[in-house]
Amino acid sequence: MAKKQRIGILTAGGDCPGLNAAIRGVAKTAIVRHGMEVFGISDGFLGLINKEYIELTENRLSGILTLGGTILGTSRVKPFKKQSNGDKAISKPELIKEHYDQMGLDCLVCIGGNGTQKTAHRLSQEGLNIVGIPKTIDNDVYGTDMTFGFDSAVNIATEAIDRLHSTANSHKRIIVIEVMGHNAGWIALYAGMAGGGDVILIPELEINIDNVAQYLEDRAYKNKDYSIVVVAEGVSPKRKKKSAAEYIAKMISERTGLETRETVLGYVQRGGTPSPMDRILATRYGSAAVELIANNDYGKMVTLRSDNIEPVPLEEIAGKLKVVTEDHPLVMKAKWMGTCFGCNRSVSKNND
Ligand code: F6P
Repeated sequence: MAKKQRIGILTAGGDCPGLNAAIRGVAKTAIVRHGMEVFGISDGFLGLINKEYIELTENRLSGILTLGGTILGTSRVKPFKKQSNGDKAISKPELIKEHYDQMGLDCLVCIGGNGTQKTAHRLSQEGLNIVGIPKTIDNDVYGTDMTFGFDSAVNIATEAIDRLHSTANSHKRIIVIEVMGHNAGWIALYAGMAGGGDVILIPELEINIDNVAQYLEDRAYKNKDYSIVVVAEGVSPKRKKKSAAEYIAKMISERTGLETRETVLGYVQRGGTPSPMDRILATRYGSAAVELIANNDYGKMVTLRSDNIEPVPLEEIAGKLKVVTEDHPLVMKAKWMGTCFGCNRSVSKNND
């Protein structure tokens, strides 16, 4: 009897809703359609370094589709990061390769964001059979229209912004809400637009805080009783200890004298059950990853492109970020409707 193909799955980097849906998509497709064996590796690449894993049977997968987080655990361990345990000890990449072989794996599925795909690419260059699945609430993985986790985070952030409108209105205040997104402002852009934010501040676009203050004063002058400012966490200046929300709220209050409060949404955006769209996207990614494995087609990450799932070589992805551009259609449309991005150049008479 031909040896069953054996897949290892790991989840690495920040957790997000949809990870268990992706694990389930890989494992159920592998077991049911291809009769493969599937092992879940604990805590990202750390589990491979320590050779910690469990077999994923259909029973083990039962009920995880809607579960937040990851049943495997995750970590931000970077195996290729310089280590100081002397040149005698076996390196982490060597340990990973040894354990990959000892586990009898035919392929390793790496579910994660930019850092994970960069490590996945290096392990692929070291000869391991790798398939990547793009995951992060930040949606900043290059080469794919969308990562799973993003839709759930946008839903959570939008619901929070909706709630802030009523309290800001009652008190005639400016409320600044900080959403996640360290290098890219996708959550701020999407949730800011979906939630009707008056000001959207993202790390990719240069912010002139005097423009923001002037815009908010104009709104107050026109008897707009309150304003909502949505800011990505990456906007906060590196040297300051303050959160982006505190920093922006303080600058607004000092310049306008208008009553201002701030809220940092934080890890709520990473928790809880995945949105239906994330369950579908994560499942599609998982299933497509297994088809690549069944065809011995490795060294690739599955991507979403205009609603098609397409494999892209990891070397085209690794180390690159997908960021918001000033000419992005959503940015343009928001500006045309008078939303302020704090930019120096303005595209309409009422804009920033
Ligand atoms: O990468 C996703 C993310 O949530 C970022 O938006 C955020 O800046 C970062 O992870 C937080 O990292 P940690 O979970 O290690 O605190």
